[in-house]
Amino acid sequence: MKVLVVGNGGREHALVWKLLQSPKVQEVVCVPGNGGTATLDRCRNLGLSVTDFEGIGRFALVNNIGLIVVGSEVPLAAGITDALKEQTLTVFGPSQAGAQIESSKAWAKALMQTAHIPTAHAEVFTEAAAAIAYTATQATPIVVKADGLAAGKGVTVAQTPEEATAAIEAAFAGQFGEAGQRVVIEEYLAGEEVSILAVTDGRTIRPLLPAQDHKRIGEGDTGVNTGGMGAYAPAPIVTPTLMQRIQTEILEPAIAALQQQGIDYRGVLYAGLMITPTGDPKVIEFNCRFGDPETQAILPLLNTPLDELLMACVRQQLEDFPPLQWKPGAAVCVVVAADGYPEQYGKGYPITGIEPAETTGAIVFHAGTKLKQSQLVSDGGRVLGVTAVGVDLAEAIAQAYAAIDCIQFDAKYVRRDIGRRGMKAVGN
Ligand code: AMP
Ligand code: GLY
Repeated sequence: MKVLVVGNGGREHALVWKLLQSPKVQEVVCVPGNGGTATLDRCRNLGLSVTDFEGIGRFALVNNIGLIVVGSEVPLAAGITDALKEQTLTVFGPSQAGAQIESSKAWAKALMQTAHIPTAHAEVFTEAAAAIAYTATQATPIVVKADGLAAGKGVTVAQTPEEATAAIEAAFAGQFGEAGQRVVIEEYLAGEEVSILAVTDGRTIRPLLPAQDHKRIGEGDTGVNTGGMGAYAPAPIVTPTLMQRIQTEILEPAIAALQQQGIDYRGVLYAGLMITPTGDPKVIEFNCRFGDPETQAILPLLNTPLDELLMACVRQQLEDFPPLQWKPGAAVCVVVAADGYPEQYGKGYPITGIEPAETTGAIVFHAGTKLKQSQLVSDGGRVLGVTAVGVDLAEAIAQAYAAIDCIQFDAKYVRRDIGRRGMKAVGN
């Protein structure tokens, strides 16, 4: 089978890498891909935009692509699945209607309320003045969220009413474009965050290993939110009992509520959860696709052929699919970013040391990289994700940082504490 993966991040590099390990996958095409997918054997990049549905569809039909896996939320929210399915192509990823679970926080909140899914209380506003007046009546901290897609950067956890006001004004002034013309003001939830990536065929839903991301730019979870600075899996805070609760209180009701709306959701449902101090899971957000960088930590532990799992979702045969097989141990992915991310950062820095890094046994997933006259250069804020698998989390962390120390480029920025929370959770 030939597979086409849509996207250009570290997540897509990990998806391609995993798909190529499957005995049934001959070749993968990545649209548009990055410097990492460009150098993988049996993978090639295709320089189309992720929203060029016509171009992607034509290529897939002519080249006999058996499965299209959509990595990024942007084409999903723009309706890639609907467009390609109309051309009789096989797509893993929800329809535009299903993708609203991520593309509109207000829509997702309404769905959760209908389904009685535990989540933070929230109100939706379309005018700054009303939003500001409302926050003045609420306790702080309080959370201000742009309604639409903002690459993980549309959320402010405001410590004071003044901060909340500034965030509301910035959103309505166009900081996030259209995405910020509607704002969700949400109760602050304390606790520990976890990411549950689950695959679904629209009827059955199965979680992958629980993971923990590190959203803030700075060590000790300080500074602004980013797309994610590193992740590890499995997250020990999610015990089997808690996972069972997440399944019955969150994942299954979400699928049932989608079904009730007539949405046939086949793809990843990613639940970003807060585990509150009382040990209860509450939803912070849903995403309609694999997490980045969680995927780079989860997939290296998966033994089940990924194409078979995704095909079972697309064919609505997940109920009969055998239990997922996982490697023992733990994996961590540490993001190597360009200094200044998620705000202003430079591009085009020559990158060296990838081969020595990989010699340590780590896997170097590329995110914002490209080949410029056969020289690898940085081409984004999150540049690389270095993953290591160990017998335990401590070993995985040590290996990932040893590999990172081999890699050099100007303005390299790394959080040095990825995974430390997971160590605390197991009493280290
Ligand atoms: P989101 O894009 O909704 O996942 O929000 C990004 C990040 O903001 C989350 O990963 C949390 O760290 C933080 N956050 C969002 N909503 C809340 C909330 N209600 N309480 C506390 N932190 C939140
Ligand atoms: N790592 C957070 C996300 O993928 O949204």
